Amino acid sequence: MSVGPLGKDLLGLEPLSADQIRLILDTAEPFKEISERTIKKVPTLRGKTIVNLFFEASTRTRVSFEFAQKRLSADTVNVAASGSSVSKGETLVDTARNLEAMRIDMVVIRHGASGAAQFLAERIESNVINAGDGTHEHPTQGLLDMLTLRDHFGKIEGLKVCICGDVLHSRVARSNIWGLKKLGADVAVCGPRSLLPNAIDAFGVTVFDRIEDAIQWADALNVLRLQLERMQRGYIPSLREYNRVFGVSRERLARAPRDVLILHPGPMNRGVEIDSDVADGPQSVILNQVTNGVAVRMAVLYLLSGGRPELAEAAKGGQR
Ligand code: CP
Repeated sequence: MSVGPLGKDLLGLEPLSADQIRLILDTAEPFKEISERTIKKVPTLRGKTIVNLFFEASTRTRVSFEFAQKRLSADTVNVAASGSSVSKGETLVDTARNLEAMRIDMVVIRHGASGAAQFLAERIESNVINAGDGTHEHPTQGLLDMLTLRDHFGKIEGLKVCICGDVLHSRVARSNIWGLKKLGADVAVCGPRSLLPNAIDAFGVTVFDRIEDAIQWADALNVLRLQLERMQRGYIPSLREYNRVFGVSRERLARAPRDVLILHPGPMNRGVEIDSDVADGPQSVILNQVTNGVAVRMAVLYLLSGGRPELAEAAKGGQR
């Protein structure tokens, strides 16, 4: 097990300092270029063994962690709940301890329970990376969102970022709020009150009840998916009504005083929280977020493995 400048694990952005967040974003910069090469591979993590333990569905996070690991030459194994002994009732800790007995170095975990990543980190020696736990945090998503904002605006400090939609169920919202505020952004949320946490005031964010007001105010909107699978009761009258009142449409964006940047962590409900001509339009950086996800995850893997930040540029040496 390695302990680098981030400590043993990456469980969330709330526990990190502004300097640690900046360190990850700065370390991601030199790693971006590796994915543009013909041969997308450097030997930086050769000999490291990493298990991706995904107990919930994922496309972007799982695939981009795997690409990040493979591009750094780590040996990786993917374990999903279905098809593993978890489906026979084996506990999370027993699963991880059995994997550790095979001498792994790191676990990337996605789990439906808030706190699952921390629970695991306290019980195993290997480094643990939280790839999304319940409604708690999704730190690498927050980091790649910030990297995308920084790419576009050149800075995070002073930016007005509004997180729109189903904040209540969103670990992405929480990681963005913690990370953006630490780096000096002005953060707001917008959505129906039924989809905002009761304790939203404790997050220190501005609350907009009307999407039109959020669009007038913001430099960037991070539009969240309605997490219908986590809604046991009716939080909204209907999807059509939600789109009519809170949907981000081209007509609404056209009334803004500036070109508002559009982010979405995916997967999108097109025609619900975001219209297709916005998702695919000139103000959208949604696919840039996905591209940046690989570089951010490479940086996190590198730093947690004990990689020295000042050597990240040299660490990406290899065939171009
Ligand atoms: N943004 C995100 O976490 O997407 P996936 O659920 O596809 O990983």
